[in-house]
This record gives sequence, structure tokens and C-alpha cells, in this order.
Amino acid sequence: MKKIAFVGAGQMGGAFLEGLAAAGKFELAFVEPNEARAKELAAKSGAKALPDAKAAVEFAEAVVLAVKPQVFPAVAPALAKALEGTKGKTVVSLMAGVKRSKLREALGDAPTLVRVMPNLPLTVGAGAVAVAEDEVPADVLKAVVALFSEVGSAMAVAERQMDAVTGLSGSGPAWVFQFVEGMAAGGVQAGLSRAVAEELALATIEGSVKMLRRGLGSTGDLTAKVCSPAGTTVYGLNVLEKAGFRGALMDAVVAAAERSAELGK
Ligand SMILES: NC(=O)c1ccc[n+]([C@@H]2O[C@H](COP(=O)([O-])OP(=O)(O)OC[C@H]3O[C@@H](n4cnc5c(N)ncnc54)[C@H](OP(=O)(O)O)[C@@H]3O)[C@@H](O)[C@H]2O)c1
Repeated sequence: MKKIAFVGAGQMGGAFLEGLAAAGKFELAFVEPNEARAKELAAKSGAKALPDAKAAVEFAEAVVLAVKPQVFPAVAPALAKALEGTKGKTVVSLMAGVKRSKLREALGDAPTLVRVMPNLPLTVGAGAVAVAEDEVPADVLKAVVALFSEVGSAMAVAERQMDAVTGLSGSGPAWVFQFVEGMAAGGVQAGLSRAVAEELALATIEGSVKMLRRGLGSTGDLTAKVCSPAGTTVYGLNVLEKAGFRGALMDAVVAAAERSAELGK
């Protein structure tokens, strides 16, 4: 899958396109009604600006749908018409909460449809991306996972798991930003400047993630390493346990997943 066209090149589509452009392996094009943005993106990425969905379908093997879900009903008829009678085209939807069955209904039988859930850090090339595998031929699934691996960590899941994905990695950046906020505020309360506290919080998170990534131990093993008997950390952990820290995180993921399911009905 080398020729990719984006329909909608805003925050998510634009960042994905730029990530693919940086990889230097793809022929890229996009449809974007905001002219100033289209000019800027074409200059930055070398991708071709196209006039409409028809041109996108003619140009590409895979069309990435990166418009807002509420814009989809306006885009769908022209895209469906352009796809009519085509063979071997893939449509990759980034739209949160729009099920494959809805995409099929709107876009017809011709394309292979792949639903994907990215998250905000994709915009800095460090996304967590889930690709729904249902009814996607193995070669297309492999190609789509490879595309998103250019801008983060991509993996295949079943479509019924997409609400769980939305609750975990889709919404997750907000939990992490709040976690940083809480740690930094605690540092300030304990006497550090805001700048020092924020930097220490971020470096602590980055370093801890690196240890887990290198397989230096499970989360439990590594927690035990920081907790010396009657030391500072175990006193802090006791506070988190009493406040139900892990339970609150679990509830947050499940609440967001349930809300995603509700919105998708
Ligand atoms: N942002 C996230 O964290 C996130 C996470 C997961 C999934 N998503 C999904 O990613 C998709 C894109 O989100 P986003 O945050 O990138 O939104 P966005 O920044 O608003 O981008 C959407 C782009 O589509 C353009 N557009 C509007 N109508 C169009 C049309 N008829 N043809 C072609 N392009 C059109 C918009 O142009 P104008 O500005 O001129 O209207 C805009 O540039 C959404 O479906 C969202 O659910 C986003």
C-alpha cells in the first residue's frame, strides 16, 4: 500500500500525512477544504492537494477518512459514488465511534473497510493505534498496521474491542496529563518551583516507561524496587491505596469505554 489519499487533513489527518511523508516511502495526496491549510500542508509534506473525493479515489489504493464524524454524512455520498465499480480500494476510517456497519451502509460494497482508533500523541509520531481486524483481508490488515506503525505503536484488535480501546488509549492521554499535573502540583506544594516540578515529573514518567519497555521487570517488581522498608515511597503508596488510585483509573477507562459504546448506538 503505497498510494494514500486523505479526505480531511486537519489535526489527525494532517499529522498522519506528515508522518508518512517523513518516512519517504509513500505517494501522498489529500482533500482539504481549508485552502490556507492545504497550501501549507502541500508545501510542508510534498503531498498533492486534490479537489474532491473522486480525485482521491482515482489517485489512491487507500483513502484515509479523517473528517469529523458529524461531517461524514456530507462527505459519504460523493465518496460512495467515486468508489462504485472500483476494485481493490481500501477506505481507512479514523472517525471515532463510527462502526464498520455504518461505513458499509454509507460507502457501498466496493471498498475494503478498515476502522482505526488513533490517539492524540499520533500528532507527534507517538500514537497508540488500534486497527479493527474484522473482515479485513490479512494482506490489507498487515499493510494498514504497517502504515500506522510509521506514527506510533499499532496493533490489530477485534471491532467489538474498539470501545475498550477508546476508553484506554483514546481517552488515556487525558489521564496522563492529569497525572503529570498532580505530580507537579505535589512537587510545588513540597517546595519546588513549577518549572522544576514539571520537568522532574515528566522525566520520571519517561524514565519509568523506558524501564518497562526494556523489560527490566513487571510493574509490581519495579514498584517493589523503589519501596525500601519503612522508606519514603511506601508511605506515599499507602496514601494512593487509601485514595483508591488504581481503582479510579480502572473506573475512568471503563466509564470512557461505556460512553463510547453509548455514543456509537
Ligand atoms: N483528535 C483526536 O484526538 C482524535 C482521536 C481519535 C480519533 N479522531 C478522529 O479523527 C478524525 C479527525 O479529527 P481531527 O481532530 O483531526 O479533526 P479536524 O482537525 O477538525 O480535521 C478534520 C478536517 O477535515 C476537513 N474537512 C471538513 N469537511 C471536509 C470535506 N467535505 N472534505 C474533506 N475534508 C473536510 C476539515 O476542514 P475545515 O477545518 O475547513 O472544516 C478539517 O481540516 C475525527 O473523525 C475524529 O473522530 C481524533
